[in-house]
Amino acid sequence: MPTIDFRSDTVTMPTPKMREAMTTASLGDDVFGDDPTVNRLEEVAAERMGKEAAMFVSSGTLGNLIGIAVNARSGEEMIADTDSHTFFYESANAAVVCGVQIRQVATEAGVMSPQQISDAVRPRDDVHEPFTAAISLENTHNRHGGIVWPLEDVRAAYEEAHAQGLRVHLDGARIFNAAVALGVEPAEIASGADTVTFCLSKGLACPIGSVFCGSRETVEEARRWRKRLGGGMRQVGILAAPGLIALDEMVDRLAEDHANARTLAEGLAELPGVRCDLSRVQTNIVYFDLETMNAAAFAEACDKRGVRGLPTGPRRVRFVTHYGIEAEDVQSALKICEDVLTA
Ligand SMILES: Cc1ncc(COP(=O)(O)O)c(C=O)c1O
Repeated sequence: MPTIDFRSDTVTMPTPKMREAMTTASLGDDVFGDDPTVNRLEEVAAERMGKEAAMFVSSGTLGNLIGIAVNARSGEEMIADTDSHTFFYESANAAVVCGVQIRQVATEAGVMSPQQISDAVRPRDDVHEPFTAAISLENTHNRHGGIVWPLEDVRAAYEEAHAQGLRVHLDGARIFNAAVALGVEPAEIASGADTVTFCLSKGLACPIGSVFCGSRETVEEARRWRKRLGGGMRQVGILAAPGLIALDEMVDRLAEDHANARTLAEGLAELPGVRCDLSRVQTNIVYFDLETMNAAAFAEACDKRGVRGLPTGPRRVRFVTHYGIEAEDVQSALKICEDVLTA
């Protein structure tokens, strides 16, 4: 039986049509702006995010890093959720590369209230404190369970951030999951963000790539940062070609991943010794806690039986559904989890 790999939606393989498009894409040197496939992807991406311009980057991490670089200067501070990918999983790149300090704000479920935002902004006239330049928001929120920000909370956060004079970056690695869950266009979710990064290489199944979007002026500055960081790529239309297919064909099917995640979470919640907060299972991510087993031992035992998950704490495991995981796989995986927990 082939492995059911729930570790992440980044394990997705490109579709046959993507592979075909990679072999036939029109190419040019993208650092010179000559690659027609990249140029087309950037046009389409900007339009989908409701921004003036866009820039293809190799990863979500690079897109977010550029989002920090163009929105805050060395010595300044950027507000971000304590559990944000930017703070938690990007190897302190804000500090190392940009000289920017992250001001962490702990949230209950990934959604930052206007009050939390205004409380985190430093006084402007105290030389002891860094200048708060920007805020980074994450939607869907990975470590909070793939939760989707309600649109009214999104709007309230943008409004407060701008009222406080902050620039706003949106880590929209999974913005299309949020858009499908809410039944809106991603541009609506990104509407008040000055810059947004979204990933092609997660649920949309591309092998590589993310897109950074913003105003024309900001994207020009971002191109300099991408070059500075060694992220300028040449005939990269080979990777942009699957991106165009992803935006055309892979967005609506995310609803299947959400339905599979729901079934998976409900099934897990019924297993002995498993706690799963179903209210947080809103898209394709399922976190659950084990009462009787340690997460690493559980993951190892599941792996031996053909199900792979990601331990994210001593007792916590993450399962992510994605292209390539079918409804039958969810049922097989639940049976395997039950066997492991009752062995
Ligand atoms: C919310 C979020 N932002 C950013 C990233 C980084 O993306 P990449 O792995 O392409 O660098 C991830 C990756 O999982 C993520 O979950």
